[in-house]
Amino acid sequence: MTALEEANLRRYYDQRAPEYEQIYLPRDQQHACELGELSRELREALRGRHVLEVACGTGYWTACAAGVALRVTATDASLAMLAEAREKPLPANVELLARDAYDLHDLPSDFDGGLATFWLSHVPRARLRAFLDGFHARLVAGAVVYLADNVYVPGVGGELLPADRAGDTYKVRRLTDGGRHRVLKNYFSTEELRTVLAPGTSELAVRAGKWFWSARYRTALVR
Ligand SMILES: C[S@@+](CC[C@H](N)C(=O)[O-])C[C@H]1O[C@@H](n2cnc3c(N)ncnc32)[C@H](O)[C@@H]1O
Repeated sequence: MTALEEANLRRYYDQRAPEYEQIYLPRDQQHACELGELSRELREALRGRHVLEVACGTGYWTACAAGVALRVTATDASLAMLAEAREKPLPANVELLARDAYDLHDLPSDFDGGLATFWLSHVPRARLRAFLDGFHARLVAGAVVYLADNVYVPGVGGELLPADRAGDTYKVRRLTDGGRHRVLKNYFSTEELRTVLAPGTSELAVRAGKWFWSARYRTALVR
């Protein structure tokens, strides 16, 4: 993904911000059930922790984490998405910050929890390692990380374009103003996720349902 495409992704989310949370409206019983499962897993993973969240968006999962975490530092690159999050009655243990997920170096490095939901699918495959290394560098050894994202469901969320030479796939997304956006959206098998997430981690558990996958692990005790 070029710098221009990255800027496009941010612009797309700037424009999508007011309508973003429609994705959480239950599509069928299984969808609602799996969302509930993500919420349960997330709360179990991050209870009592000082959490760094990347690409927090409108704060949908930030609110969930904040209910059980000690503190949540929630970051996103889109000011419009953060503005939606600021509209929420988030508890006082939440701090919202504008940050690029690939450039977290000025944040403290003492978080013992990490959270990134519906973000990994937007990371170009060639940048997965760099993103994870930069993210993990802000966490203490043995921190618990919880990730979740979409499973590919044909016909949902726009047309899927064939993979480019880098192996990245894109979706054509339409917003309610009629605007069309080509957005990087990668889907991972559970095997791919294990391969990507295993280096430098322990206790890795990956699970996939019909709609969503989730992963929980600890950052390595020795670096
Ligand atoms: C699919 S949304 C996920 C939002 C939220 N985590 C959720 O689960 O509802 C992807 C988010 O990534 C953010 N984003 C896009 N590029 C980013 C970047 N380079 N750094 C940080 N956030 C970015 C967008 O603004 C958007 O909020």
